[in-house]
Amino acid sequence: MRKEVVLITGANGEIGHGLIHHLSKHRDVMIVALDVQPLDEKLTHHCHRFIQGDILDQMLLGRLVVEYEIRTIYHLASILSTKAEYNPETAHRINVEGTLNLLRLAVEQSQWQGRPVKFMYPSSIAAYGIPNLQCKEAAGRVKEDEWLAPVTMYGCNKLYCEHLGRYYSRHYRQLAADSGQATIDFRCIRFPGLISAYTIPTGGTSDYAPEMLHAAAQNEDYDCFVREDTRLPFMAMPDAIKSLLMLEEAPRESLSQLIYNVTSFNPTAREIAEIVKGAFPQSQIRFRPHPSRQRIVDSWPADVNDDAAQKDWGWKPDYNQENAFQEYLIPVIQKRYA
Ligand code: SER
Repeated sequence: MRKEVVLITGANGEIGHGLIHHLSKHRDVMIVALDVQPLDEKLTHHCHRFIQGDILDQMLLGRLVVEYEIRTIYHLASILSTKAEYNPETAHRINVEGTLNLLRLAVEQSQWQGRPVKFMYPSSIAAYGIPNLQCKEAAGRVKEDEWLAPVTMYGCNKLYCEHLGRYYSRHYRQLAADSGQATIDFRCIRFPGLISAYTIPTGGTSDYAPEMLHAAAQNEDYDCFVREDTRLPFMAMPDAIKSLLMLEEAPRESLSQLIYNVTSFNPTAREIAEIVKGAFPQSQIRFRPHPSRQRIVDSWPADVNDDAAQKDWGWKPDYNQENAFQEYLIPVIQKRYA
């Protein structure tokens, strides 16, 4: 008998850290973790097995299918928006071909098991692309189907993979005699910028918020790469994990769509700097906008509409702007760097 497991790709990343901690504490599941980087030692004992490897390695994925009955895939591996711009074609391979490999694995697993494998996919506000600041201001709380003209390779990749998820769950091999049999159960969340007290993201463009906070807590000066008035939606990491698991648990029939926005608060960069300075008065934060990275965040919505998530699966964040910083981020970070 193959062992029943959940598979987490990109396990060593920010969401991976939060998810592995949460699952190992609150759920009775065996975790198989995959990452190109070695896994953080603090995570290894929470996992049944860690495999260091590449999602582009089809042999590796094939071997996984032989060994395990995978019930849920959390496909977190990805090259984020800023990093992807340095080598867009490589980012495309990892973000799109890597996702395609996992989708195929999921379909194959579903066929073997005769029931759909759940495929949890984190997408991003980077899937949106708003042409200018006037439109951004006028757009307000952007809905899932609005302003979908991303300006980054990462955003294009995320949006396309959302479509692939829809294709694999509803239309895969639609001309085959057995089409519609045991396809996958694809569920996707478009995350806003995420802020964790434990990890710092690598290569994103919403990274100024967590970087500012972690720098101040370590007594380091920080040059913020966006303008003070830059406004983006953000969420504390525990809420990101909560939303992912709420969507995973929701009964299929309650889901009216495959892709959901979630959000909790949307400060300007200046507001974040003020909160950070309030907690770490010695911190020096200067605003030195980087024109190209600024263009990217200017194309992302100032706020997103998460009404569908609220209505379909009862989404509600635990943290707002006030208690995210005062009860989670600042105290945990203070302790961490003390
Ligand atoms: N945080 C991501 C980035 O900045 C957006 O999903 O790339």
